[in-house]
Amino acid sequence: MSKIIINGQKELTGEIEISGAKNSAVALLPAATLCKTKSTIYNVPEIRDIDYLIKIMEHLNCKVTVDNGAITIDSSKLKNKPIPEDLSVQMRASYYFMGALLAKFGKVEMSFPGGCNIGARPIDIHIKGFQELGAHVEIIKNRYIITAKKLKGKKIYFDFPSVGATINLMLAASGAEGTTIIENAAMEPEIVNVASFLINMGVNVRGAGTKTIEIDGTKNVDNGVVDVFPDRIECGTYIILGALIGKNLRIRGIIKEHIGALLMKLTEIGVNYEINGDVLTISKCEDIKPANIKTQVFPGFPTDLQQPITTLLTQAKGVSNIEETLYENRFKNTYDLNRMGAITNVLTLNKLEIKGPRKLKGTHVIATDLRGGASLFLAGLIASGTTEIEQCDVILRGYSNIVEKLRAVGADIEYVE
Ligand code: EPZ
Repeated sequence: MSKIIINGQKELTGEIEISGAKNSAVALLPAATLCKTKSTIYNVPEIRDIDYLIKIMEHLNCKVTVDNGAITIDSSKLKNKPIPEDLSVQMRASYYFMGALLAKFGKVEMSFPGGCNIGARPIDIHIKGFQELGAHVEIIKNRYIITAKKLKGKKIYFDFPSVGATINLMLAASGAEGTTIIENAAMEPEIVNVASFLINMGVNVRGAGTKTIEIDGTKNVDNGVVDVFPDRIECGTYIILGALIGKNLRIRGIIKEHIGALLMKLTEIGVNYEINGDVLTISKCEDIKPANIKTQVFPGFPTDLQQPITTLLTQAKGVSNIEETLYENRFKNTYDLNRMGAITNVLTLNKLEIKGPRKLKGTHVIATDLRGGASLFLAGLIASGTTEIEQCDVILRGYSNIVEKLRAVGADIEYVE
C-alpha cells in the first residue's frame, strides 16, 4: 500500500509552478473524440486520472501521443465500442464520453462512473439533459445505454448548475441539429476552457462562463486545439500552504479571477500576499483570525478548497465554522485531523466547527478522498514529527508531481510504493 511520509515543520521557500487543471483536462480529453481526425491539448497535468482516460481512448481505437504535457489525439479510426466497467468506474469524469460519443455516433454504452466518496453524486441532471435533446436512456444495473436517432437542439433548464452536466450537455449539443440553450449553467472556469476547445474545433458556443450557454450543433468538427487552464484548486491548496509555513513562497501560474473567493477569505483572516502578474508570493501568517465559510458554486468559495482551508483554520485563534453546501459527506478528513491534535466537530452533515489554534503532531493517517488527502498533507507539513499518509494515490489523482514540487521548496517528503 503506497504512502506519503512527511517530517513536518520545515519552512518552505522558493517557487511552485501550477500545472494544468485536472477538472478541465478530464473533460478536454473525452471532448477530443468529437474531432474527425486530430486534436491537440497543451499543458495537460501529469496525474493518474489522465492515464485512465487515455486507456479508455485507446480502447476506442484513438491514437494518443503524449509529449511533455502536450497530448495529440488521432480519432480518425475511432470505434464506438461499449466502455468496459473496469475502465469507466475508475473515475467520475469518464461520464464525459457520454456526451461526446452521443454527439458523434448517437449511441454510447458505459458503466456508471466512479469518483470520490464525498457524496451520492448522481448524474440525473446529465441524463435529463440528454433526454431533452431526444436521447433514449436505458439503465441496466449500473450500465447506461444511451441512444438517439437524432439529437435536436432545444432550451434546457438545469435544476442545479452542475459542472459535469453543463460540460456533458455542451458536448452532446455540439452534435445536435440546431441550437441548444442551457439555462442555469455552471460558470466554473472549466466550462470556459472546454468551450474554447469546442470553438477551436468548429462548434459555435456563446455565453460560456455565464448562466446561459448557447451551442450551435454541427457535424463538421476537426483540428481542435486548446491550452489547459492552470489548476485553480492546486493553486489554492499551495497558497494555503504558504499561509501555514511559507517564507516568501512563490506560486507561479495563478489566474487571480479564478481564486477570488479564496483570496478574499485569506485577507479576511489576516493573511498577507503579493501578486505580480501570474506569481503570488506568500509567507506564514503569525496571527490567523477565525472565519465562517460557506461553499458555493463559482464564483463563490469552492467546495474543493473546503478541506484544505480546514487545516489552515485549525491554526486560527478562535472558533471557525464551515458550511458545505455542495456535498453531503465531505468532512471525513476531520477524523484524522483530530487524531493529529486538531479540535473539529461535525455538527451536522454539512456543518463543521473548528477550534484553534492547535499544535498538530504527526501520526499515521488515511486519505479518504482527493481533497481530504490534501488537508492531511498540509497538516503533515506543519505538524511536529512524522506523518504517514496511507492510500495516498487518491492525492496523486489531482496534484501532479506533488512530492517533487514540495521537495523543491524545502519539504521533507517522500512517496513510498
Ligand atoms: C466537478 O464535479 C468536479 N470534478 C468536482 O471536483 C467539484 O467538486 C465539482 O465539480 C463542483 O465544483 C470534476 O470536474 C471531475 P457537480 P461534478 O455536477 O461535475 C450534485 C475534485 O476534488 N449533482 O457540479 O460531479 C452532486 O451530487 C472534485 O476535484 C446532482 O445531484 O460536480 C453534487 O452534490 C470533487 N445531479 C453537486 O450537484 C447531477 O446530475 C455538484 O455536482 C450532477 C450533480
